[in-house]
Amino acid sequence: MNKKILSILKKKNKSKIVCLTAYSKNIAKILDKYCDIVLVGDSMANVLYGLKDTHKIQMENIIQHTQSVKKGVKRSLLVVDMPKGSYKNKKLAKKNAKLIFKLTKCDAVKLESNNKNHIIIDELVKSNIPVMGHIGFTPQFKKKFKIEGDTKKKVKKLLDEARLIEKAGAFSIVLECIAPNAAKLITKNSRIPTIGIGSSSNCDGQILVTDDMLGMSGFYPKFVKKYALLNRVIEKAVKKYTRDVKQHKFPTKKNFLNGSKF
Ligand code: KIV
Repeated sequence: MNKKILSILKKKNKSKIVCLTAYSKNIAKILDKYCDIVLVGDSMANVLYGLKDTHKIQMENIIQHTQSVKKGVKRSLLVVDMPKGSYKNKKLAKKNAKLIFKLTKCDAVKLESNNKNHIIIDELVKSNIPVMGHIGFTPQFKKKFKIEGDTKKKVKKLLDEARLIEKAGAFSIVLECIAPNAAKLITKNSRIPTIGIGSSSNCDGQILVTDDMLGMSGFYPKFVKKYALLNRVIEKAVKKYTRDVKQHKFPTKKNFLNGSKF
């Protein structure tokens, strides 16, 4: 088994697993110093491409951004979202997962669940492809953003789904927008680590979309803590640059290129 995956598995019940998303090298390089897992999420649809949902993200988008992220990742586990439609059936899933691995040299792929996808996970794992599951609010299959697992019946369904995903051989599972008690129950009953987003601290690890926690995306539901307000920092810099250019203060002689000197 991949050593990085083994070390993630060993963290269960010992230390919290830190995960964030990246779509390009420069951010990935910073995350790599601190994160156990860097995810190239299909959230790039909203964050980078200004789309209303993740449905139009293609294999090409995912591959290109992962190739960039890979250049910044050395120690973290690099996980890649499989786009909607790319794992519709076993054969297609295997073909596309293999292509992602071949072209990006990532460590694992992530698949969202729609109650049946444990069958696909099983097939991929049998082909030695490491897989992360994803249950609860799964944007590729659900339209309305809402809390999952808020009734006994729904908790049971989530628990069953998590069990099937674990049995299929996934090495971890994302719990998105799952009620705290349900997240607690799933985490307690799984042998693989659970990674929460909007699912309370009752998970083995946490993930956020990096642009959200940096205050860049404009998407700030209650579960997102803004660790910076980068939008303000960037605006201040752009405003100063604009003023300098207009007032002939930039570039100055020290920014001129003389001869071959950079
Ligand atoms: O696409 C993504 O960024 C994700 C995380 C929110 C888990 O799937």
